[in-house]
Amino acid sequence: RRRVLSGIQPTSDSFHLGNYLGAVRQWVQLQDEFDAFYFIPDMHAITVPQDPKVLRERTRRSVAQLLAVGVDPERATIYVQSHVPEIAQLTWVLTCLTGFGEASRMTQFKDKSAKSGTDAAGVGLFTYPILMAADILAFQVDSVPVGEDQRQHLELTRDLAQRFNKRYGKALTVPKPYIVEEFAKIYDLQNPTAKMSKSADSDAGLINLLDEPKRSAKKIRSAVTDNDREIVFDRTAKPGVSNLLTIQAALTGRAMDEIVASYQGKGYGDLKVETADILTEFVTPLRGRVDELLADTAHLDAILADGAARAREIAATTVADVYEKVGFLLPQ
Ligand code: TYM
Repeated sequence: RRRVLSGIQPTSDSFHLGNYLGAVRQWVQLQDEFDAFYFIPDMHAITVPQDPKVLRERTRRSVAQLLAVGVDPERATIYVQSHVPEIAQLTWVLTCLTGFGEASRMTQFKDKSAKSGTDAAGVGLFTYPILMAADILAFQVDSVPVGEDQRQHLELTRDLAQRFNKRYGKALTVPKPYIVEEFAKIYDLQNPTAKMSKSADSDAGLINLLDEPKRSAKKIRSAVTDNDREIVFDRTAKPGVSNLLTIQAALTGRAMDEIVASYQGKGYGDLKVETADILTEFVTPLRGRVDELLADTAHLDAILADGAARAREIAATTVADVYEKVGFLLPQ
């Protein structure tokens, strides 16, 4: 069976709507058709400072959220990155294949280090995309469901796989990004030309799945639109309206044309209220489900132990092949 793999960082108490619509929703759909691997990249999380206690809690919480939205441990392998040490082993080999200039061109490092300046940024933040490449290449993955902001990292991953195979002989599958264009970039409700992100200056435009539904509904009703009245889907001319329409289309599964047609003769107020209602319906059951799952840590930990065992088996096979090909003497 063809294989998919993806990860979501445990750097917040809740997934946001961009994470869900851009990525995690696709994970749920793909687990039926593919051999699926979904994981929590806690090693990526420490590329910026984390409180150890909070990191541990958020890692479990992230797993609970995956289960709550429908990722199924019977169908998908679910694990924590640091439980699979083979990923770190592969990272070093890939690090030695990466050009300094090549790594310097990664835009996420430029963005994430812009505030502190590059001197203050950690080297881990700089080499972050190489760890991500190892996450993927350790598992011989065909397809990686992510949002638009991960596209450049996927390109690096493909380049590294091709380079390794050319230099040392074929050991790594070259993966393809799986990016659903319509939903690959959900925008900040207050600043609808910037992506929705937990690191925005204000959280007024951020919808956290586990926030009080009333709070999220209010944020949607206060979303920035424009001074016009017409409801059409046009990302350039009407980014705010188009973002709300996109959220509706994603959560209802309805076609965009049909949604737009249903707003003939209606106003922005209707669009906002209805989008808020649709969101409320979706998020309301999630909080209870996450709390229930978190109450049974033994169950979560058993899922993770099982996932790590399955994941390590595959990653170890890749690492053994890679080590042999680069010329490491096998320990006897
Ligand atoms: P992370 O944790 O920042 O985000 C998780 C997923 O959510 C997507 N996403 C969005 N999609 C649409 N609109 C948005 N506003 C939005 N914001 C975030 C991201 O594209 C991502 O798919 N480096 C990754 C985690 C990672 C990973 C991997 C992913 C580590 N190793 C290996 C795939 C394969 C990250 O930081 O995602």
